[in-house]
Amino acid sequence: MADFAELPRAPLQPVALDWALAAGIELAVLRLDLIDPLICGNKSYKLAGYWQQAQKIGARGLISLGGDHSNHLHALAAAGQRFGFSTVGLLRGEPHETPTVKDLQAFGMQLHWLGYSGYRARHRTDFWAPWQALYPQLMPVPEGGGGHLGLVGGAVLVEQARAQLATLGWGDYAAWWLACGTGTTLASLVCAEEGAHPVYGALAVPMNHGVPEQVAALAGPEGYELLDACRGGFGKVDDALIAFMVDCERQMGMLLEPLYTAKALWALREEILEERFARGSRLIFVHTGGLQGRRGFGL
Ligand SMILES: Cc1ncc(COP(=O)(O)O)c(C=O)c1O
Repeated sequence: MADFAELPRAPLQPVALDWALAAGIELAVLRLDLIDPLICGNKSYKLAGYWQQAQKIGARGLISLGGDHSNHLHALAAAGQRFGFSTVGLLRGEPHETPTVKDLQAFGMQLHWLGYSGYRARHRTDFWAPWQALYPQLMPVPEGGGGHLGLVGGAVLVEQARAQLATLGWGDYAAWWLACGTGTTLASLVCAEEGAHPVYGALAVPMNHGVPEQVAALAGPEGYELLDACRGGFGKVDDALIAFMVDCERQMGMLLEPLYTAKALWALREEILEERFARGSRLIFVHTGGLQGRRGFGL
């Protein structure tokens, strides 16, 4: 396989969740977790735009940043190994090992630990200058693969989902529902939908962490709604959430992870219970992957 473009189509699968069925809501899941064992989830769609641009400007690889369980760095490192480009990862905190960090090293990613204050500097305009001086051949990718170049994937996702509606016996769908970290995947769906169907984003980070502003800058003010789904903060996990996730996994016949997909489903259940959607509505839930991150929770 030479490039992201050759990754297979994400299957669209119907799921039966008792709390959705009770409200007369039909759900289908767009399984981005299934497109590849390693280069999976929404990451691959965001990275595709960056690698395309890097090739255009003659860069030899990509440099990016994230935490010690980062799904984004994991997919980037795996893609670099698979497609033959160099990768550098800038990590939050002091050097230590996690299952994700071990994988990054095994995939050949060059790692640098920035400490906590060094990582906080990532939003400064001069942040990348020393790294670009050190790695002039590499193109920087913002945290989580966010930003304009991460937007190209939405068109592919909308096309793939629509092409499979008939196999579910669906003529149409009412809306999209997905987890948001940077909001880039949501923004890409909003741009691709051009107002045809609303996109609901369940935020895995607090609402005041800049996501609404970032989404507005990428996709404008309309065609979507953002909801707080972080349950006390990014990365916060409680027993009720894990019990809910395990129950959903059993009913859906697929694995989830706590930080994004489980929180997004929790928020969806709450909105369904609040009767946000009329009986008979058909919704597409995007499984944004991230299953490698389960290991950080001993799952
Ligand atoms: C599993 C998972 N789902 C959703 C997201 C959020 O995607 P985005 O940053 O495009 O909003 C991320 C990462 O940010 C993720 O790792």
